[in-house]
This record gives sequence, structure tokens and C-alpha cells, in this order.
Amino acid sequence: MARYFKKSVMSLAGYEPPPQERVRAKLNQNESPFDLPEEFKREVLAEAAALSWNRYPASESGALKNALAARHRLQPEQILPGNGSNQLLQTLLTAVIEPGDGLLFFPPTFGLFDLFATINGADKTAILCPPGRPFPLEQALAAIRTRVPKLILLCSPDNPTGRALSRPEIEAICQAAPGLVFLDEAYAEFNGWSGLSLLESYPGLILSRTFSKAFCMAGLRLGYLISRPANIAELRKAHLPYTVNLITEHIAVRLLARPELLEERVAWIVRERDWLLGELQEIAGIAAYPSAANFILFRCAECGSLFRRLKERGILVRDVSGYPLLENHLRVNVGSREENLWFLETLKEELS
Ligand SMILES: Cc1ncc(COP(=O)(O)O)c(C=O)c1O
Repeated sequence: MARYFKKSVMSLAGYEPPPQERVRAKLNQNESPFDLPEEFKREVLAEAAALSWNRYPASESGALKNALAARHRLQPEQILPGNGSNQLLQTLLTAVIEPGDGLLFFPPTFGLFDLFATINGADKTAILCPPGRPFPLEQALAAIRTRVPKLILLCSPDNPTGRALSRPEIEAICQAAPGLVFLDEAYAEFNGWSGLSLLESYPGLILSRTFSKAFCMAGLRLGYLISRPANIAELRKAHLPYTVNLITEHIAVRLLARPELLEERVAWIVRERDWLLGELQEIAGIAAYPSAANFILFRCAECGSLFRRLKERGILVRDVSGYPLLENHLRVNVGSREENLWFLETLKEELS
């Protein structure tokens, strides 16, 4: 196989998608527990039926860029939509990293950072960030000075730890960075603060957003990058055309016109997350960390066996014990109240 494939690819274990089975409580992929309302789905699908499916979609997704620009008070030229934010991360690494270029990131963090950095041959520097402890800013700044990374990958709120970086932390990194700073904000809607307000001050800042979490559209695949127009123009060159299909674009534009649908759901998830955290913290044998996202990371003894026992009883959580520093950790996302109660009850029974 070495004749056929890059060494960097052959060295990978590969991304294993977590189980998608129908279960009593599916709490393993940080999805929204809420589907969009039936009447909304029927309306937008009828409208989508009237579109010309035989034609390519507008490759620039103009209507979507206009709607997103209006939402964030930006220019459409500051936005690059794609088939999920994962795909845009791949576009970013393709556009920026040549073999040997320095890349700084902060594990445990989003697993695809390491994967795409490896495939692109980046010279990786990893600063470990133990969950539940302050972000190691001084160490990060020292690494920026000595390693001079071309690209810094941040995730806030972070998956899987739930940690949010503060504005001063992000600003200190942007000020020190010699190259680009990428901030994955897949969970920003659950946090209440976003790096959007920093875009004007830091020309090397690129934000990433998704419709898969707060927007309840994981199945339709949509994400977007935000940066200054000159950065977006370069990223576009490395991005495939037509990655957003016309039905997804239509539905997203219609959803952006109904912000109340999302606001209610996000507010409920944030309240439920804080309640779930309180409940988890009461359980002996569990150490749960505060979270600014729609999921909670917790430590427990023999998490592999607990994960399997929960699964056998129809509760799917995420076993994150393979991440650096996360031995014996599981991650659970906020589900419906019914799912959360099943989860808590089953967890208590299994631990007693
Ligand atoms: C930090 C982070 N970024 C991006 C994604 C993926 O987003 P998308 O569905 O838009 O590809 C996830 C999904 O879990 C995530 O946790």
C-alpha cells in the first residue's frame, strides 16, 4: 500500500463514526434533541420541490451568504459556506499548510484538528490542556514565540471538554500569532459570547460555524467560515464548488428568517445543561466539568465498561477515553428531558 498512499494517511487510525443506532436516548453526537417543526418542514420541502433540481446550485450560495451576512452584520464576501464545517476545516488546511509548516493546537480538542494536520504534513505542536483547569495561556504564548506556527487551531466552546476561552485569552493569542488563528465555534450559540467582535481587530482570524448543533440541521450538512474578504477569497480557491446543495441552502435561508425557532431551543438546552450538570455532580463516583456547550464531559471509574452497559440499556453516550488526558472520561450531550432522565436513572443504577 505504501506505493499508493501518503505516509501521513497510512499512519492514521481513521475517523470511526460513532454508532447511529436507534436507541432510547441518543446522546453521543452533540446533536439537537429537537427536530424542526413539521409545518416548517412541509412548507420548505414544497418550496424546494419547485426548484430546478436538474441545474447546479449557484456555486457561491448567494442567498445564503446574504442571509448569514445580515444575521452577523457582515459583508457577504466575509462568508464561505460548505458541506458542514468539517469540510471547511479540510479546505482551510489544504489552503494553508504545506508539509513542515508549523501548527499549534490544544488537545484534548476536536479530533479532526489532529487528523487533517497529520494528512497535510503539518509540523504539529500540541499543548495539553487538562479539563477543569484554566487554559495554559502562558505556555501557549511561549510556544507561539518559539515555534512560530503558521496556523493555530482553537475550539471554543471546546469539544470534548466544554471549556470556553475568554475574550482576553483569544485576543492574547491573536496578538501573538505570526500567522492565522482558526476558531471553531460550532457551539458558540450555547455560550453567549463569540469571536465575531474580534474580526475587525485581527486580520488573521478565521471563525467557523455550523448548522449541525443549535440550528438542528446536522442531517442536512451545512457550515460556514467567517473572516475578512481577502482571507475568504484565498480559501475559496481551495474549496470545491457546489458543496452546498440547493435544498439545504433553501432550508437554511428560510430557517434564518425564523430566529425565534432557534432562540427558544437554545435557551432550553442551556437551562437543561446546567440542570444536568447539577444532577451529575450529585452522583457519587462521577466528576462532571462545567460546560459552555450542549454537552458535558465527566470522569468515572472503568468508563469503558460503563459505556457498554449504558449502550446495552439503550443509552448512547460518547466514550472519549482515547483522547489525550481523558482516560476514564465519557461525554454526554443534552437530550430531551425524557432522555436526560433515562440517562441519569440508568447511570445511577449502573454505578450503585
Ligand atoms: C468542534 C466541532 N467542530 C465541527 C463539528 C462538525 O460540524 P459539521 O457537522 O458542521 O461538520 C463538530 C461536530 O461534532 C464539532 O464538535
